[in-house]
Amino acid sequence: MSNKAPIRVSVTGAAGQIGYSLLFPIAAGHVFGPDQPVILQLLELPMAINALEGVKMELQDGSFDLLQDVVTTSDAEVAFGDSDLALLVGSKPRGPGMERADLIRENGPIFIGQGKAIDAAANPNVKVVVVGNPCNTNCLIAQNQAKRVNPRNFTAMTRLDQNRAESQLAIKAGCPVEDVSRLAIWGNHSPTMYPDYTNARIGDRPLMDVITDHEWLDGPFIKTVQQRGRAIIDARGKSSAASAAWAAIKHARDWARPTPDGEWVSMAVTSDGSYGIPEGLIYSFPCRVDADGHYEIVQGVELDATAKARADASAAELVSERDTVADLLS
Ligand code: NAD
Ligand code: LMR
Repeated sequence: MSNKAPIRVSVTGAAGQIGYSLLFPIAAGHVFGPDQPVILQLLELPMAINALEGVKMELQDGSFDLLQDVVTTSDAEVAFGDSDLALLVGSKPRGPGMERADLIRENGPIFIGQGKAIDAAANPNVKVVVVGNPCNTNCLIAQNQAKRVNPRNFTAMTRLDQNRAESQLAIKAGCPVEDVSRLAIWGNHSPTMYPDYTNARIGDRPLMDVITDHEWLDGPFIKTVQQRGRAIIDARGKSSAASAAWAAIKHARDWARPTPDGEWVSMAVTSDGSYGIPEGLIYSFPCRVDADGHYEIVQGVELDATAKARADASAAELVSERDTVADLLS
């Protein structure tokens, strides 16, 4: 039995597809480790509260040593009360034939209310991870409302894209996925994202020395990563859920511990102008986290002209998404 004070984790849309896969690994210690108790504070729409009560029963039935309490509510201020980590999942997923950006007018307003509730009720040091799509711009909307919280504490999730890219590269190279490092996602969680393989490594070698099929890297590899969400919707009839939940676990875990030497993690964070990306956009960069749980954008990464053009194109798309929701940012 641990003597540590519990960490409060808020999860929105907790009875949805991702929520169902996300809560159990948190309760099992996959984010904060095997001796850190947690309290889950779960938010759902009133119409899904019954389903959420069922999820709560299953959490109880898991008999998790670290799970001190489960709060279920439709009141966002209750869900975010003193929250240390907030995973913003609750929102509509896209269906076949849609882009994630098509969700912005429907999902964007949700993040106004949630940003306000975080501002009113959460721990001022709360770390926020936005998963609901389009996640970069939804993150911007929520951040804009939460004046009491450091804007740096608002992030959006591109870890699923990093995981997808690493896995494709490991399959191509015939190596374990753990051998792939420094694969970073640049930009938006959208088809313009740029999975930068040019700086990636396999073991202690540059990836491009190991994977010599550069046409594959520049074509099918990038496209597979950019379009993976759609491929899953086409195959399953529903968007990714278990892999998305696992990516959220990894995002939160890697924001809570120092990044191992030689590695990077992809996080969509507030641009400080690094690499010429317009300040204030929520843009995915290679990041490193220090022993205090603070991240920094990795500096000095060399992007050739093609890579830079791709990184800039994704920034331009984010500027245009920001313009589309200008009324939600005022
Ligand atoms: P889902 O429809 O299965 O679940 C969403 C849940 O959110 C539902 O239970 C719904 O009742 C709830 N909800 C809706 N509005 C809410 C609100 N205002 N407050 C609280 N709860 C609310 O959807 P899902 O498959 O779990 O996906 C959720 C979101 O995550 C979608 O926007 C999806 O596109 C996105 N997503 C992002 C990534 C990523 O990599 N960033 C990956 C996968 C999915
Ligand atoms: C994904 O990348 O799987 C999610 O963003 C869901 C989607 O709409 O593609």
